[in-house]
Amino acid sequence: LVAGIDSSTQSCKVVIRDAETGKLVRQGRASHPEGTEVHPDAWWAALQEAIEQAGGLDDVAAASVAGQQHGMVVLDENGEVVRPALLWNDTRSAGAAADLIQELGGGEKWAEAVGIVPVASFTLTKLRWLARNEPEIAARVAAVCLPHDWLTWKLTGSTNIDDIKTDRSDASGTLYWSAKTNEYRLDLLELGFGRRIKVPEVLGPTGIAGHLPNGAPLGPGAGDNAAAALGTGAGTGDVIVSIGTSGTVFVSSEVSPNDPTGTVAGFADTTGRFLPIVVTLNAARVLDAAGKLLGVDHAELSRLALSAPAGADGLVLIPYLEGERTPNRPDATGAIHGLTLKTSDPAHLARAAVEGMLCALADGLDALVANGATANRIVLVGGGARSEAVRRVAPELFGLPVLVPPPGEYVADGAARQAAWVALGGEEPPVWTAEAPETFEATPVPLIRQQYAAARDAVVNRAR
Ligand code: XUL
Repeated sequence: LVAGIDSSTQSCKVVIRDAETGKLVRQGRASHPEGTEVHPDAWWAALQEAIEQAGGLDDVAAASVAGQQHGMVVLDENGEVVRPALLWNDTRSAGAAADLIQELGGGEKWAEAVGIVPVASFTLTKLRWLARNEPEIAARVAAVCLPHDWLTWKLTGSTNIDDIKTDRSDASGTLYWSAKTNEYRLDLLELGFGRRIKVPEVLGPTGIAGHLPNGAPLGPGAGDNAAAALGTGAGTGDVIVSIGTSGTVFVSSEVSPNDPTGTVAGFADTTGRFLPIVVTLNAARVLDAAGKLLGVDHAELSRLALSAPAGADGLVLIPYLEGERTPNRPDATGAIHGLTLKTSDPAHLARAAVEGMLCALADGLDALVANGATANRIVLVGGGARSEAVRRVAPELFGLPVLVPPPGEYVADGAARQAAWVALGGEEPPVWTAEAPETFEATPVPLIRQQYAAARDAVVNRAR
């Protein structure tokens, strides 16, 4: 048996699977406070509860932890957390991101150095914010790591900051490690934070980060998106679109993108390759917000959306409810454009919410393809993929067949598959048989993208 763990923005999930076949044996889940600033102790408490619910880890042969990316976990020299973590969805460091771009001489310099361009989500911008805004706390920081690194280290029982390990996928979202060279850029860490501090060793795909109390090895773990790529078993040309708290569009690739605009981030994957990715801050919660506005649940929102025509007769909903990261407009707000007597009803608004959210992700697909990715099919996962309207509208916007695998814990499953790889060895992760996905196809409707592009430009320019 192997265990896979997913510590996400809202909760912790544990799956225990048979290492050889991938068969699900037990699982557990526990919530923790969400938000944009959370104390890591809350994740640890949820992890322990989820492990207990899953019947413990005493009988597993290996385990791996995947987690929300980029969160700044700062420790003092005794290994104590010095302040709550600032998470990927916290935009207070947007000014720091802009400063860092300018200080290194532009986005192209960052893309060249580390494959990504500063936005508020990435760890180094948070360290800069901390150095500038909380200098006394910053002075106590001896080490920085990421949510999944910290939880793996806690599972080993060590309190020594020299023992913390990370993996390529999560290291590649810090701005101070390069997926292309597999090396730290501590000069960039120093540029951002003002001095060098301890960073975790970056392990290869089956490196061992430590051991559980029963002696079982802990794998390197992963950022949640890279783990989902492993968990869905996506192949060449399968672009994963995940509609969760964040919206992500990514594909495993042999080559790293080099996008000076920062739209496509050059992360690493869990297999020694790359994971070009586009990330939006507004995804499943756009549907939540539309449901709240209309006073309906998700099933009714979906029914309403499917009862309106494609393109919602020109009604467009710009979904920047929490600012946005792609395009990089941390202060933007949402907007509804195109209200007429005809479009002023719940069905049109529901349709516009679904289309608006999906258009942002379809823009992400275009950017991946423009940066050299092969896109044959979309694999749609995450909470938002449960909406019938999302499944049916997605192929109209992506212009590709959309596969929806059976509902599952793809991030935790990816971590479990990594653990199985650690336990069984081999050049590539073990192949597990998967249940057949449902496929959705539709004729593309370019008009929707055009309407959206025009309205979005007006909002983005206003927020500039
Ligand atoms: C990726 C990102 C999000 C988080 C969500 O860059 O910021 O997808 O990983 O947990």
